[in-house]
Amino acid sequence: MTDGVPSAEFRARGAEAAESAERMLDSLLAPTALPGETLRPPRFLEAVRYAALGGGKRFRPFLTIETARLFGASGTGVCRAAAAIEMIHCYSLVHDDLPALDNDDLRRGRPTTHRAFGEANAILVGDALLTYAFDILADEATDPDPQTRIALVFGLARSAGIGGMIGGQVLDLEAEEAPQPHGPEDVMRLQAMKTGALLRFAVDAGAILGRAKAPARDALSRFGRALGAAFQIADDILDVEADEALLGKRAGKDAGRNKATLVAALGIEAARQTRDRLAQEAIAALESFPEGANATVLKEAAFFAAARKN
Ligand code: IPE
Ligand code: IPE
Ligand code: MG
Ligand code: MG
Ligand code: MG
Repeated sequence: MTDGVPSAEFRARGAEAAESAERMLDSLLAPTALPGETLRPPRFLEAVRYAALGGGKRFRPFLTIETARLFGASGTGVCRAAAAIEMIHCYSLVHDDLPALDNDDLRRGRPTTHRAFGEANAILVGDALLTYAFDILADEATDPDPQTRIALVFGLARSAGIGGMIGGQVLDLEAEEAPQPHGPEDVMRLQAMKTGALLRFAVDAGAILGRAKAPARDALSRFGRALGAAFQIADDILDVEADEALLGKRAGKDAGRNKATLVAALGIEAARQTRDRLAQEAIAALESFPEGANATVLKEAAFFAAARKN
């Protein structure tokens, strides 16, 4: 990470995590019914696979895999947990794009799931991915220790539910109707919920799988919180500045919808400064970790969350 250029190590590990996540998602979404299932309806499975495979930065799986690696944990179980978290993320995108929410027609460079498969299927795709994520975490193939599996299930439920991601989505939609300008503190809280909660859990999950001790867990939680905030501010800035082709989704849509963004609350320059300050905060949270490639890659992830181009 010199002069804002990602290191070769960071790029290699990012590509490796994305590939592992893709392979795991592909095998979890195979046509064969699992024990206890009756049948995976083929046309519907195609829609689920469309929503989950073949796109996206896979940043959440990367965070889980790299955080677990800090503690020497790796392999199938870690990949399964990473894929479960990515399923929650994919479901959130499918529902976020629905006409009743953000009403978008482009995602990851392709028509949104409801455009490709119809609204009813898109709602059910979200439901299926959400349910499956917990199935995966509860399965002993993810971790032999039931306490660890419960911690994963509990943490994911808390981060994705009423007081986390979904609550944030609700506040995001309510804010569209607000007559008064959005205050920066309200924006930050909303974003910590709709986007930050799951990103933070992606880090926490790695620490849980790695059996990290309390001080390391706390430091990683602070890292995840700051990184999550920087990530959503970057999303808001990209909506204003980025090229649609590179972004893979429509740009320039937040202002017209009166979205509660930090750009709307503070202006683009102050939003940029806040984003960069938060990335620095995330990096500082990892100071207590021994120097070495593993912690360095996570520090670069904070930098990437802020400086990304898509
Ligand atoms: C987009 O998330 C929605 C937000 C939470 C900001 P990503 O930017 O991680 O989207 P993909 O997974 O790479 O498509
Ligand atoms: C999406 O936020 C947050 C979740 C899906 C939980 P946005 O609405 O800003 O994401 P994009 O810009 O559509 O990707
Ligand atoms: Mg939205
Ligand atoms: Mg949206
Ligand atoms: Mg956005």
